Amino acid sequence: MFHTTFYIRRLHSICGLAVLGMVLFEHIFTNSMAIFGPAALNGALEMMELIPKPIFLGLELGGIAIPLLFHAIYGVYIALQANNNASNYGYCRNRNFTLQRWTAWYLVIFLIWHVGYLRLYTKGITGTPISYELLQNYFQNPVVVVLYVLGMFAAIFHFCNGITTFCMTWGITKGPRSQNVVSVLSMGLCAILCLITLTFMGSYLI
Ligand code: HEM
Repeated sequence: MFHTTFYIRRLHSICGLAVLGMVLFEHIFTNSMAIFGPAALNGALEMMELIPKPIFLGLELGGIAIPLLFHAIYGVYIALQANNNASNYGYCRNRNFTLQRWTAWYLVIFLIWHVGYLRLYTKGITGTPISYELLQNYFQNPVVVVLYVLGMFAAIFHFCNGITTFCMTWGITKGPRSQNVVSVLSMGLCAILCLITLTFMGSYLI
């Protein structure tokens, strides 16, 4: 029983960092093309359409949907467990621990909306391709823009703070000094990714 929980937790951890981390980077990279205008974003989106359909679907299922569902469902289970030992740590780590949980809850709702509306409904059911023009139209609503920016910030913080906890979980950073160094670096990465997000989201508004 102990071993099963141990291995599932490790799988949850590697799934969040390696698989979902890669998805997040790919997402930010592709969407940042909007900064260079409609042609650049549409070009990047069309490039992905060049991947043969069965391979693309396999990648979406095996590389995104299944790891995300596993990480989210087991994550909700972890978050529901009363885990109060965070108060044993310093103020910063305690606050980040709480934010890691809050962002997880926001991501559950945001990702159901985001994937449900754009991938399943718009692209899947209506067969409308996702394009710069479609997104620009979508982001005419300021409420949608605010909820999207919050969703991206939540995913970025959750991932970047996850780098710090991942290094602790896997015994990569053992002492407080190395843990602090990784924490500062990952929060630096968090700031850079949030800035890129604000820039590409802003490009739809001007
Ligand atoms: C969809 C909803 C999500 C939920 C409910 C969720 C839940 C959680 C929870 C509760 C933890 C803490 C685990 C622990 O304390 O041991 C965690 C860790 C983590 N999550 Fe998520 N998560 C979600 C989405 C994501 C996404 C989209 C990413 C990547 C962009 C991600 C990346 C990570 C990473 C890297 C960790 C750290 C793993 C570790 O500490 O070893 N998660 N997640």
